[in-house]
Amino acid sequence: MPDSHNSASKPDYVLGTHHEEHARLGIQHSLWREFVLDAWKRAGIGLGSSVVDVGAGPGFATMDLADIVGAAGHVTAVEISCRFMQNVKDQVKARGLLNVSVHLVDLMHQDIPLANTGAAFDAAWCRWVCMFVTDVGAMVRRIRTSLRAGGMAVFHEYGHYETYGLQPPTPHIDAFTQVAMQSFSARGGNANIAGTLLKALLQQGFEIVSIKPLARAARPHESLWQWPAGFIRTYLPRLLDLGFVNQAFMSDVLQELDQAEQDPQSVMLTPTVIEIIARRSCA
Ligand SMILES: C[S@@+](CC[C@H](N)C(=O)[O-])C[C@H]1O[C@@H](n2cnc3c(N)ncnc32)[C@H](O)[C@@H]1O
Repeated sequence: MPDSHNSASKPDYVLGTHHEEHARLGIQHSLWREFVLDAWKRAGIGLGSSVVDVGAGPGFATMDLADIVGAAGHVTAVEISCRFMQNVKDQVKARGLLNVSVHLVDLMHQDIPLANTGAAFDAAWCRWVCMFVTDVGAMVRRIRTSLRAGGMAVFHEYGHYETYGLQPPTPHIDAFTQVAMQSFSARGGNANIAGTLLKALLQQGFEIVSIKPLARAARPHESLWQWPAGFIRTYLPRLLDLGFVNQAFMSDVLQELDQAEQDPQSVMLTPTVIEIIARRSCA
């Protein structure tokens, strides 16, 4: 199925919105869920909070947020992809949720709509979205405008993508990491956006409440392995389609990955995520 289901018929964002990417985002969310719940708790997101899920994808975090804020709270999901937005709407309907609203928004060109009450949000959640946009300053400005004074913004974005790969490093998987980063840059994104994001937050009057790197290591028998290994397997065919790699490159990477998987002692590091929790100033 073509991936052209976006507002204004723009090309899909680089990872795509096809079925495999949807499934990957679901596994990814469940493997990072404990870190996410912890960050939300520390940012004060709880019963009755009003939260915006910025670049919500198919809505895995949106559904968790809806449970956490309860009937007295509200979650607004904003997303550029029609297909992902429809996925969120389908889940909202299937679960009979009354506390979630969903909007098709291109955050590079449109503001974040406020919840039905018209009040600004208590918190914003944004994960692995800043790395794909062309202007992170504009993104921060829109998040800032949508938050009440003292509202919290919580981000999980990468700060050092190059940690992604086997330990000790291997040539083909390391080359995959480099090409993946190039593919994000080619569309105006930046894998290692966390530093620029931090600067933009400070420039726009946010106070940094907490900042921490999250790097993880996985062995082939651990469920976490599926995440870095699964991304290599789903993204290689996409890189081939987009012309970033050829068949020989793809075979070399897959062979190296298959071999690593046969050895229970193999270790794969994830790209390093930087968690940022920031408070909107009162001014
Ligand atoms: C890697 S996915 C992450 C989805 C979700 N935040 C999560 O953690 O599961 C990146 C998401 O950002 C969305 N996105 C990219 N550029 C956007 C833009 N300009 N406006 C709104 N959403 C955007 C994509 O459509 C995609 O759903």
